[in-house]
Amino acid sequence: MEDRSRGLYGVQWHPEVKHTPRGQELIETFLHDCAGLPDDWNASSIIDDQVKKIREQVGDAEVICGLSGGVDSAVAAALVHKAIGDQLTCVFVDHGLLRKGEVEQVKHDFVEATGIRLITVDAADDFLEALKGVSEPERKRKIIGEKFIRTFEKAQRQVLEEAGARGKEVKFLVQGTLYPDVVESGGGDGAANIKSHHNVGGLPKDIKFQLIEPLRTLFKDEVRAIGTELGLPDEIVWRQPFPGPGLGIRIIGEITRERLDLLREADAIAREELTKAGLDRDIWQCPVVLLADVHSVGVQGDERTYGSPIVLRPVSSEDAMTADWSRLPYDVLAAISTRITNECRQINRVVLDCTSKPPATIEWE
Ligand code: XMP
Repeated sequence: MEDRSRGLYGVQWHPEVKHTPRGQELIETFLHDCAGLPDDWNASSIIDDQVKKIREQVGDAEVICGLSGGVDSAVAAALVHKAIGDQLTCVFVDHGLLRKGEVEQVKHDFVEATGIRLITVDAADDFLEALKGVSEPERKRKIIGEKFIRTFEKAQRQVLEEAGARGKEVKFLVQGTLYPDVVESGGGDGAANIKSHHNVGGLPKDIKFQLIEPLRTLFKDEVRAIGTELGLPDEIVWRQPFPGPGLGIRIIGEITRERLDLLREADAIAREELTKAGLDRDIWQCPVVLLADVHSVGVQGDERTYGSPIVLRPVSSEDAMTADWSRLPYDVLAAISTRITNECRQINRVVLDCTSKPPATIEWE
């Protein structure tokens, strides 16, 4: 309803919700025509605004940022780097549980696109050793989380020492917190809000740094727009959500190097076929899960095989809180299945997970 002469406007329902008919139009009319606000909230104005704020906040101190390989930390780092250049050092812990090509993406493509100073810690052997013989999901998560913190701390000491040698002090830590995270954690401010799901197991509770959170007021689609505006490659900007513990929670059973290599191959094939079919932006994510301790009988040529099944878990979702299984076209499923069983010798069966969340979760562990 409206009463223009008295400047009164009202709407029923939630115009900001995607499913409200004409919701966006209503909001735009209200903001621009009724309230008279300018239409100047876009990727480039957000960048200019944040660059100014970050420079004021940081002064000539130094800044550290942990990169996970995901969209949020990559965009946050690129934004801070645009503001303060070489005062920023990024740390990337390679825990050996990433997907095919992802380490290179961070070490080469990201660094090339931004010119950021990056310290990479290759901790794959360490993580594998710690995970030897472990198949219980929560223990896996705990081990990966704790190991991650210890490894990050070691790299952090190196950054502090190097800065000290230049006569500088590292005072700030960049976090890729988004607005939904702020809402979820009650909207409080600053250091108390470091949440474990931003990283593998969360950063240490007693960190001495002040936080820089340049994405704190933004939603994922805005973060992606900023990433593109900052020149980051599509493979990073449009990356599917990926859990901190990585492929470690997509191998049901013990995590070994061979099983990781096998899952990496199968996962890469599934991703390639989804991209080829133009479905990347339609699905939320598609975990590929190796049932390493389960075996099934198959036949290849004239031979009996006894291999592992692999599960495709394509889901559509708005926020991962709930999800529906994606009805992928049969042809795409067929292409993925044929290629995986042809190219990954130990896999002789591909199955589709057609369960929503709830009652299932997106990941299997
Ligand atoms: P679930 O399995 O709970 O997953 O339905 C919901 C979303 O969260 C991701 N996920 C994680 N992300 N650390 C993360 O950073 C984790 O430990 C973790 N576990 C699940 C999952 O990929 C999905 O997008």
